[in-house]
Amino acid sequence: MALNRAVVAAFLVAACSSNDVTTPPTDAGGEVDECKPGSRVTPYVRDKAAEATFPAGFLFGAASAGMQIEKGLTHADWYQWANVPGKVAAGDKPDNGPDAFAHIEDDVNALKAAGANAYRFSIEWSRIYPTRASFDSNTPDKAGLDAYHALLTALKAAGIRPMVTLHHFATPDYLDDITKPREPQTFERDEMAPMFGEWCKRMGKEFGAEVDDWITINEPLVLLVGAYLVGAHPPGPPLDIDRMFNAAKKLVKAHVAGYRALHEADTVDAGTGRAVAVSIAKHNRIFVPLDHCEERDVEAAKKTDYVWNQWMYNALVFGDWDDDLDGKLDGPNDKKADPALKGTVDYIGVNYYGVSTVDATLQLKFIGGVPAYDHLPTDLPKTDMSWDIYPHGLRQVLNQLKPYKLPVYITENGTGDSKDVNKSRYLAEHLWEVSGAIRDGVDVRGYYYWSLTDNFEWDRGFCPRFGLFQIDYASPAKTRKPTRAAALFKQIAEQKKITAATIDGLPAYAAPTPCPGPR
Ligand code: BGC
Repeated sequence: MALNRAVVAAFLVAACSSNDVTTPPTDAGGEVDECKPGSRVTPYVRDKAAEATFPAGFLFGAASAGMQIEKGLTHADWYQWANVPGKVAAGDKPDNGPDAFAHIEDDVNALKAAGANAYRFSIEWSRIYPTRASFDSNTPDKAGLDAYHALLTALKAAGIRPMVTLHHFATPDYLDDITKPREPQTFERDEMAPMFGEWCKRMGKEFGAEVDDWITINEPLVLLVGAYLVGAHPPGPPLDIDRMFNAAKKLVKAHVAGYRALHEADTVDAGTGRAVAVSIAKHNRIFVPLDHCEERDVEAAKKTDYVWNQWMYNALVFGDWDDDLDGKLDGPNDKKADPALKGTVDYIGVNYYGVSTVDATLQLKFIGGVPAYDHLPTDLPKTDMSWDIYPHGLRQVLNQLKPYKLPVYITENGTGDSKDVNKSRYLAEHLWEVSGAIRDGVDVRGYYYWSLTDNFEWDRGFCPRFGLFQIDYASPAKTRKPTRAAALFKQIAEQKKITAATIDGLPAYAAPTPCPGPR
């Protein structure tokens, strides 16, 4: 989603808090003494190695999500949302996107052309159960099931390993009524956890013989920031951080229900050597103080790092439930090693897009400051989303996952680049850092580029082009055209390495073509 300046506006109304977080600071930058905004976020300097390598069996994949590439998801909240004037830039509608169901063969051919051996996509709840009655009576939509089976069959024939997400931002409209945004919706609803568990169980049964790698929920905190702080996601309204974290706590319960259901329902090894592995795709970032000479900014960056990057996985891996989000397990509702939560991910899924500065001038509850995600006051190259390009942050994010002692998959990483001028360098530098993290001892097993094709980029519509393959939206055939990065991806995937000379030969970053928000 387009985390944008509105986030800042959202944070401005939040209450003040002075929690004490014990986690160490994330020192993202070099030793820069200058005290000015963003001075620690220094341009990328690659290490001196001659090449970066990847182990045998490493997954080089691409990722997508149903709402962003399928047509006809008319019973999803996002479908209704996109019809509300002012919610999506240029009034773009998901139905005018890549139409993936009509192009299964093209997409699988694109994966093959990029040398990919893995594909992450979502199965859409509102496609399979478009109405509450169809869900309650367990009457799935046959055409929907058939389409996903067809995709999985084509992937298998191409030797491409699937990873399936069961909730990627879009929710059936009977669980998210956007006309009643002040009532509990999506993960706030009490019925959501058991229903989500049931949804996962049914999908595990239906597709378990074809799928071993599962993601229950994509970017839980981005989803909720989008809905309740920024208001760029349904149902809104924005500016309610208490509501956001109450929803986050319920969402954890829904994930746990999904985790257990998938383990119960999927008992068939589809080719990975084990029947089922389940996680979330967690968006982690680097948080740096806006001014590293300002103690309050430093403290706020630490707290934000804890709440955003660690709080949820601490609960799911260790069972450490920090109910008041203060970084200590001493509150009345906190729990250490809670068996109801502990061990409810089998691997770590992590999406990485970059760095945020944290400004403590105004102190947001729980995190003590205001993180900014775009238009940062730095000298770093920027993407079409106006996000900083910060490859070494990926290595730092990966290193931060070491205490969990689980295999790691980078479930998303990519850049919006409509002119296809920066994608190759972005890809190469990030993969270089992944290899560095492996050398550091992080058990990284795979990397999924976001995204296989250009797609509906939520509130930014079709302007940002993240695809390894560009979509010609105007053509009736929705032609998939390889970017330069697709050829580079293939080379790296086939050789399982990238040389410093290859990166040096790529053009320097060009100025981005910024994509406006809806308003
Ligand atoms: C989401 C994707 C989105 C991408 C780029 C992630 O936040 O999972 O759906 O397209 O970032 O904004």
